[in-house]
Amino acid sequence: MSVILGIDIGGSGIKGAPVDTQTGQLTAERHRIPTPEGARPDDVKGVVAELVRHFGHEGPVGVTFPGIVQHGQTLSAANVDDAWIGLDADALFTEATGRDVYLVNDADAAGIAEAQFGAARDVPGVVLVLTFGTGIGSALMQNGVLVPNTELGHLWLKGDKHAETWASDRARERDDLNWKGWAKRVSTYLGHLERLFSPELFVIGGGVAKKPDKWQPHVQTTRTKVVPAGLQNDSGIVGAAMMAAARGHEQH
Ligand code: BGC
Repeated sequence: MSVILGIDIGGSGIKGAPVDTQTGQLTAERHRIPTPEGARPDDVKGVVAELVRHFGHEGPVGVTFPGIVQHGQTLSAANVDDAWIGLDADALFTEATGRDVYLVNDADAAGIAEAQFGAARDVPGVVLVLTFGTGIGSALMQNGVLVPNTELGHLWLKGDKHAETWASDRARERDDLNWKGWAKRVSTYLGHLERLFSPELFVIGGGVAKKPDKWQPHVQTTRTKVVPAGLQNDSGIVGAAMMAAARGHEQH
């Protein structure tokens, strides 16, 4: 059994749990610490180190970030402090935790986990995994292989608005929408993605994946099936751990 700690940095909470990367199961209850106000690198680094201490776990750690991650650097910061832009966040977390850290975009981690263990398992062709939370994250999968950093939450929709400004779960709360009203916005967004990518399947992740009965009956697309994430809101944690495990194998 290969157990790796996965940590998911979100706009409102930073969550961690050890993951059996062969089965995708969490091997202990997850622990959540609220994201520090402003989500500045030093404060977030402290929380990540605290989670590593909490689990007292040895070995590499997979960490997600809610922005573009390339070569260990964080290159965008839509919902966190601008100081992340251009930062070597992999080195920051490695130094703070004393562990080998593998950093990955949060939605990309969710996509990898859903393709292996969740709703996109054994689905051939193009699958779009979308996470709805503070923002909208996207993972574009083709036969289980990820095209990283697609950032489809930042497609322009409705005039000069990014899709996530209008259709994220935060937008639902901010605009005081009922589930049906929010699902209508999501349907418009999915309809646009459907025309651009012709996916076989949409997988909806993030906090809303825990309550599909609220939105699933109201989401309509022309021809694409829409299902909630099989791992619900744990797919980021699981995918981060899986990616850290895969990198460990590459290095040995
Ligand atoms: C970020 C993405 C992220 C998504 C969900 C967006 O604002 O640009 O990188 O995946 O939020 O957290």
